[in-house]
Amino acid sequence: MRYTVLSLFPGMIQAFCQESIIARAAASGVIQVDTVDIRNFAHDKHRIVDDYPYGGGAGMVMKPEPVIEAIESVCAVSTEQPHVILTTPRGRVFSQQIARVLAAKQHLLIVCGHYEGVDERVCAFVDDQISIGDYVLTGGELAAAVIIEATARLVPGVISEDSTVHESFSEGILEGPQYTRPREYRQMHVPDVLLSGDHERIRLWRRKQALLKTIEQRPELICRARLGEEDLRLLEQIEREEQAERCGLGV
Ligand code: 6GU
Repeated sequence: MRYTVLSLFPGMIQAFCQESIIARAAASGVIQVDTVDIRNFAHDKHRIVDDYPYGGGAGMVMKPEPVIEAIESVCAVSTEQPHVILTTPRGRVFSQQIARVLAAKQHLLIVCGHYEGVDERVCAFVDDQISIGDYVLTGGELAAAVIIEATARLVPGVISEDSTVHESFSEGILEGPQYTRPREYRQMHVPDVLLSGDHERIRLWRRKQALLKTIEQRPELICRARLGEEDLRLLEQIEREEQAERCGLGV
C-alpha cells in the first residue's frame, strides 16, 4: 500500500510514521508513506496558500491552485491512479467499514485541509471526503494519521491477521474484556472460566461479554450488528438475567 499525504505540515505526518507499527511496516516495505508540502505549489514568492473567503466571513480558505496542482503532480507520476481523499469535518464519518474498503486500495492520496476549509473547486479533484468524527480540528493531519493507522494495520503483513478477525467492530460489536497475568491483582481476579481450559466455554463466555459490553457502551451498534443464532440465544440469556436482577432488587 502506498500513501501520499499532501499537507502544509508534512513534518507532522513524517513524525507519526517514524514510530511504532507504521514505522516497522514502512521499513519492511509493506507500506510506503510519502509527504508533499502543498506550499511548494504556491504561485507567488511568499508561498501564500490561503486567502480571504469571497462573500466575507471569519477565517481563511485554502487557495485552489496549490492544492489542485499538488494532487496533479502526484497523479502524473503514479502508475495506478490513486484514490484521492480530502480530510474535512464535512466528509463521511470514518469507520472500520470504510477502513476495510480503503485498505484494499493500491494508493491513497490524502489531502489535509486547513483553515476554515479548502476552496470548493478542489472537490472536483477528489474521490472521497472523510471526517474522523463530529468535532473540529485545526487541520487534517491528525485525520490523515488516523486513516493511515486504521488502514495500514489491515494491509496483509503489517500485523498478525488473527488480531484483526475478532477485534472490536469486526462483526459490528465491541470486543469483550481481556486479561493477562497476574491472576490476582489488588484483590481483582481473572474470571475462572478463562483458566478452565474449556475452549468452548471460553468462546461462549467471550461472545456473551462482547454482547454485554456493546449493550452497555454502544447499544445502537446491536441493531446493525451481524448476529447469528447463538448471539440471539445469548442476548435472550442476558435479558433474562437482567430481568431476574431487577426482580431481585425489587424494582
Ligand atoms: Cl478530517 N478535519 C478537520 N479539520 N476537522 C475534523 C476532521 C477533519 N474530522 C473531524 N474533525
